[in-house]
Amino acid sequence: MTSNIQIGIFYGTTSQTTENIADSIEENLKPIFKIKKFNIYKSNLEDINNFEYILIGCPTWDIGLLQEDWRIAFPLIDKVDFKGKKVAYFGAGDQFVYPDTFLDALGILEEKITNLGGKTFGVTKSDDYNFKSSKALRGENFVGLGIDNDNELEKTDRRIKEWCEQITREILTPM
Ligand SMILES: Cc1cc2nc3c(=O)[nH]c(=O)nc-3n(C[C@H](O)[C@H](O)[C@H](O)COP(=O)(O)O)c2cc1C
Repeated sequence: MTSNIQIGIFYGTTSQTTENIADSIEENLKPIFKIKKFNIYKSNLEDINNFEYILIGCPTWDIGLLQEDWRIAFPLIDKVDFKGKKVAYFGAGDQFVYPDTFLDALGILEEKITNLGGKTFGVTKSDDYNFKSSKALRGENFVGLGIDNDNELEKTDRRIKEWCEQITREILTPM
């Protein structure tokens, strides 16, 4: 099964974990969708305007903050028209060293983009993780896919594969 739907993946990364996740997501989705991937360090955020389906990737750094390239890009997000766009989120964190701010960056970006009209898809259950608090939580769910390669590398491939299957279903059978 292939689809003409184009998906734009926009990610930031400091120590390459989120870049590797983005690569793996691309590998999982490219048999079905047309994928374009952008490291926001060297891309223009306005490229987001070319896509209806967008994946945003951001690890959490410096105790509850966005990764540094997203920190720079954050004010520019206001210039993007997210109305009518479907947005899913993924990113890396460390639940054992930073249990009070686990995956915060995902929640910070989701809140802003939702306020600009973006419609979130690809939310996940949080019960497979061990942490105290997170801005990425909405009720009991995370706003997107959390990956913890610092502690649970063995779960990463399965988490990415299952999430890609989930978002594929959500894209192809919209509510
Ligand atoms: C100084 C420092 C602060 C961090 N702060 C957080 C944090 O607040 N929350 C979290 O979930 N992970 C935190 N992490 C873990 C990183 O998000 C994790 O190592 C991630 O894999 C880095 O992703 P990247 O390689 O894509 O930059 C921190 C790591 C470092 C070194």
